[in-house]
Amino acid sequence: MNRFASRRARAVPESVFLLMDQAKARRRAAGGEVIDLSIGSSDLPPPKEAMEALAEAALEPSTYGYCLKSCTRPFLEAATKWFARRFGVDFDPDTEALTLIGTQEGLGHLLLAVLDPGDVLLMPEVAYPSYWGAAAVAGAEVWPVPLDADYRPDLEAVPKEVKSRARALILNFPNNPTAAVADHAYFERALAFAEAHDLLVIHDNPYVDFLFEGEALPLLAVEGARARAIELFSFSKSYHLGGVRLGFALGNADAIAALERVKAPIDFNQYAGILRMGIRALNLPLERVRRDVAVFKKRRDALLAALRRYGVALPAPKASLYLWMPLPKGMDDVEFALRLVEQAGVALAPGQGFGPGGKGYVRFALVQPPEVLEEAARRIAAFLD
Ligand SMILES: Cc1ncc(COP(=O)(O)O)c(C=O)c1O
Repeated sequence: MNRFASRRARAVPESVFLLMDQAKARRRAAGGEVIDLSIGSSDLPPPKEAMEALAEAALEPSTYGYCLKSCTRPFLEAATKWFARRFGVDFDPDTEALTLIGTQEGLGHLLLAVLDPGDVLLMPEVAYPSYWGAAAVAGAEVWPVPLDADYRPDLEAVPKEVKSRARALILNFPNNPTAAVADHAYFERALAFAEAHDLLVIHDNPYVDFLFEGEALPLLAVEGARARAIELFSFSKSYHLGGVRLGFALGNADAIAALERVKAPIDFNQYAGILRMGIRALNLPLERVRRDVAVFKKRRDALLAALRRYGVALPAPKASLYLWMPLPKGMDDVEFALRLVEQAGVALAPGQGFGPGGKGYVRFALVQPPEVLEEAARRIAAFLD
């Protein structure tokens, strides 16, 4: 880092994804192409209605002013109504809901809002990379919770002295990168754990719709969850709108109020036209979202079948945009991913980018059509040979 960087800035870990980016650039500069499965950015088009709402708003001069709390009210009403319609639980749009500029922004500011420097934060040992940076900015002492056989944080494994100092627990189901899902019983255990140790549960849920069978299960659908939980939802995955930056938080009013307090001196909410786009998206028939999720399911099946043909058998993930693959014993994931890009032109995300528990794994993002995924599998098999 440099002489102007604060301790906070210096604490943010460097990302292995920067190395991947350089490796992809080297391959392309040498005239090779890259099948890029390293980033979870959906390649499907956003719903036409959502783009139309944004286009209409963009031509309306009144949408360009600062968007204070009252301007976000119609969006928060649409968000709370969406949750009530879908999951049968009502939230107050004034006190139990907040606009986010994407869930990544929301989680980063939330940690500043609910943790003091030195507070213990429980987090899965394999987690979305921005959690590690956000925890470092907040000055949190992270205790990485080991995963059980289903890739779910094993809360029993947290030692007594850590539990007594912890203030918050981050969960993320369906999970990036492992594709793990939680059932009702797991969430009930997590809420009981939080109750016993006086924790806030932060459930990051951008993949709420990405279940290949059955109905989604947000944490806030579990009875009594709002006493201890805040849940973050995004437009980036369900509606393929990652670039426009929109999300919302629902849940515990104290956590929402603290987050709103921290965000107040930092941002002016999202652009009113983007909020209108979000309202239009939330009011689309669920079938539309399900149709897109079925596209990812087909891709999952195509990739799994291709890997199997080449002798790599993996269990089928039940959800998410990802396939999480263990490498042969002793193989370093960062080295593997860098060499795979340079020599075979396939980019995967190295597991260590997701934390210490990701060592020895790589993640595929299902962001290409089936035939491209099959070609990636063929090249990987040849490379491993
Ligand atoms: C678990 C998880 N959280 C948050 C994000 C970021 O979402 P957003 O675009 O809403 O900031 C992602 C994006 O890949 C993610 O996988």
